Amino acid sequence: MKKVESKFICSNCGYESIKWLGKCPNCAEWDTLAEEIVSHSRLPAHSTPKSSPVRIGDISPTKHLRSASGIEEFDRVLGGGVVSGSLVLIGGDPGIGKSTLLLQSVSRLAERGKKVLYASGEESQEQTKLRAERLGVETSNLYVLSETNLESILQSTSELKPHIVVIDSIQTVYHPDLDSAPGSVGQVRECGGLIMRTAKSNSIAFFLIGHVTKGGVIAGPRTLEHLVDTVLYLEGDLQHHFRILRGVKNRFGSTNEIGVFEMGEKGLKEIANPSEAFLSERSGGSPGAVVTCSVEGSRSILVEIQALVSPTSFGMPQRVATGTDQKRLAMLLAVLERRGGLKISNKDVFCNVAGGIRVDETAADFAIIAALASNYRNKPIARDTIVVGEVGLAGEIRRVPQMERRITEARRLGFTRCVCSIADSEDFSTEGFDMVGVFDVNNALEVLSL
Ligand code: TYD
Ligand code: MG
Repeated sequence: MKKVESKFICSNCGYESIKWLGKCPNCAEWDTLAEEIVSHSRLPAHSTPKSSPVRIGDISPTKHLRSASGIEEFDRVLGGGVVSGSLVLIGGDPGIGKSTLLLQSVSRLAERGKKVLYASGEESQEQTKLRAERLGVETSNLYVLSETNLESILQSTSELKPHIVVIDSIQTVYHPDLDSAPGSVGQVRECGGLIMRTAKSNSIAFFLIGHVTKGGVIAGPRTLEHLVDTVLYLEGDLQHHFRILRGVKNRFGSTNEIGVFEMGEKGLKEIANPSEAFLSERSGGSPGAVVTCSVEGSRSILVEIQALVSPTSFGMPQRVATGTDQKRLAMLLAVLERRGGLKISNKDVFCNVAGGIRVDETAADFAIIAALASNYRNKPIARDTIVVGEVGLAGEIRRVPQMERRITEARRLGFTRCVCSIADSEDFSTEGFDMVGVFDVNNALEVLSL
């Protein structure tokens, strides 16, 4: 059989070459040439069916067929369950728990009557079985395949006719018609495209697992993000037990939803009450710690922000942010120095969100400032107080969205006071809960007695 022809195309400028080159001779970019299959059987343009424009009012929305796994944290991030015929990419660092999460959730779907094929290119059937035993999976509807050739996987798919297929991972599967190594941009893109067509034409839901390194540089899942319907990331600190499943793209639901899990002996456990979990190891009234409320999708979560300010022992002060944005921290430090009068430019600064969770909302600005000032002045912040607000460059404290939900969550966990912007304190004053409005950083430090 004649091998299918392929060529190498520069992802930057579109230059074509018949062999791989490290540097594109046209645009001089490095490592941009990716292998692609050249299709011979292209139909003449006029023979392809044409779709015609339809008035928007005449289109009847199709109802997506969803199946819920019963693992709520997982279903919510997907937008209420798995949509048949959808393609979902789950990315994350190696070892974070992607295989565990998917094996757990698809086995729950299998228990509910869905036929599932779990194709692993990373583990043997025995290894997957061992993991399943550890997770307590027992269902006759789950089929395991150890294979890296995509054509064989799709062959098994068409024979088995499952509702759901998991491919673990997209970096280990390859299309036999391409010469490039599994995991290369060309392979990942070609395989992704083929899987997409299979998913759509047979109404099978596909989950693709993809490893992403910190920089996201490894040729791989990133190139798939625009192709797939849903992109989820499983995040967390390998040193911590908490894992956050975050939606970053979702054609069938909201993207800012998160699911919270804890990695344990028997796999991932749902955390229905994240605030309690994140505050469970709260330090007792030590300077430099403050609680804020972050809103993620339909969830409001209380988290503790911790800061440490200490004299620099080297020439260049360090600024380390864990769980928050490094650049935002630099900006808040500048505001605190210029507007709050704290001399911290020659100090090492460490800022951390307890529990290994990430908080990227600007509504956490005020809490970061408060934690820094509290540690700098060596004065604790009252334990019953939460601090919520955005901080502007002029040092002003601004209002934040979804304040009502933040207050409700804080009250639920026994907090009695919220320091926030003047506008928020006026709009959301409630019985039995102290809303204290402050207009700028100086005013805030006074109110917090720092
Ligand atoms: P895994 O799902 O293999 O990660 P990924 O597929 O993202 O590479 O999970 C790896 C880690 O999870 C591994 O270090 C062991 C740990 N783990 C548990 O702590 N408990 C469990 O029940 C399982 C199955 C794994
Ligand atoms: Mg894995």
